[in-house]
Amino acid sequence: MDNRRTFLKKGSLALLALSSSASVFPVRLCAKTEMTVTDPKTAAVIWYSQTGNSERTGRLIAETFNKKGLNVTASDYRDFDPRSIGTYDLIVAGSPVYYYDVPENFKRWLKSLPEITGKPCASYVTFGGTGGNQHNTVCSLAGLLAEKGGVPVGMETFGNMSTFAITWSYGNDARVLEYKHLPDDISYDRMRTYARLILDRVHEGQGMEIEKDCDFRDLIKNSPSIWGTKLFISHHSIDGSKCIQCGTCLKKCPVGAIDLESNHVNTDACIACLGCVNNCPAGAVHMEFMGKNVYGYHDFLKENHIQIHLPEELRKVI
Ligand SMILES: Cc1cc2nc3c(=O)[nH]c(=O)nc-3n(C[C@H](O)[C@H](O)[C@H](O)COP(=O)(O)O)c2cc1C
Repeated sequence: MDNRRTFLKKGSLALLALSSSASVFPVRLCAKTEMTVTDPKTAAVIWYSQTGNSERTGRLIAETFNKKGLNVTASDYRDFDPRSIGTYDLIVAGSPVYYYDVPENFKRWLKSLPEITGKPCASYVTFGGTGGNQHNTVCSLAGLLAEKGGVPVGMETFGNMSTFAITWSYGNDARVLEYKHLPDDISYDRMRTYARLILDRVHEGQGMEIEKDCDFRDLIKNSPSIWGTKLFISHHSIDGSKCIQCGTCLKKCPVGAIDLESNHVNTDACIACLGCVNNCPAGAVHMEFMGKNVYGYHDFLKENHIQIHLPEELRKVI
C-alpha cells in the first residue's frame, strides 16, 4: 500500500513538473454563429470568485457597461437565477483559473443553463502568476457559452497574485509576492477597455472564433490535478476550539463538503479549492499539505502588509 502511494505521489510530481514545459499549436474550438442582438440594452455579468479577484473584474466590467447606458445585473453565479439568462441581451461570464481550468462547480452550472442562441457572450478569467493555462481556460469558458448557442465576442485574461495557499504555506512566498502589485491601475484600465471592446464588437455584429492552444497542461487540468493535490493533503478538518460559527466556510465551499456540527470535512467530496482555508476569519480550518500547516489568503496579506488596491468605481460597491 505504501509503495503504491509513493508511486502515485512521484507520478503526480512528475506530471506537475512536465506541465511547465508546454508545447503549443492552435486548435479551433468553434466557428462563428449568427448574432441576433447588436444593440444591447441589458447585460448579465456573472462570476465565480473565492477571494475577490474575479468579482472585482466582473464588477468593473459591469460598471463600465452601466456608464455606457446598459441596465446591468452583476452577480456571483450562486445568487443568479439561471432561468433568467435568456432575458439578457449580452452575457459575460468570469472565473478564476483553478487547476489549469474553469473550476468544476462553475462548469457544471454553465452546462445547466438554458439555451442562449444568438446572444453575444464574453468571458474572462483571472489567474495567478504566469504559465497557469489561462488562455486555454478562457477559451474553455467561452466554449461553454458557445455550446449554449452564445456568440463569442470577447475573451480576456487578468493576472493577479496567486491565491493557491499551498504555495506560500510551503515557503514559496517569493513566487506569489512577485505579483503583489496586482491588480494595479493598469489592470483596471485593461478591464474597462475590455468592456468597451465587447460593446464595440456587439455593435458591429462581430463574433469571434475560439482558438485554443494545444498545451500539455490541458491533459492534467481539473480532476487529475485536483486529485494530485488531494493526495498530498494529509489533514483537513475544522478546529472546533477556534471556530466562531460564522458559516463563511459553508458559504464558500462549492460542494457542501463541510459539516460544522461535527467539524468534519468530507474529503471525498472536497475539490481542493481552498475556499475554506482562504476565507475563514478565525484561522479555524486545519489543513495540512505533506505535513505542513496551510494558512489562508487573508493571513498571508496581513503578514506581508498587502492591501488590495481598488479602482474608484468600486470603492462604494465592495
Ligand atoms: C485551488 C486553486 C488553484 C489554482 N490554480 C491555478 C492555475 O492552475 N493557474 C493559475 O494561473 N492560477 C491558479 N490559481 C490562482 C487563481 O486563479 C487566482 O489567484 C485567481 O485570481 C483567484 O480568483 P478569485 O479571487 O476570484 O477566486 C489557483 C488558485 C487556487 C486557490
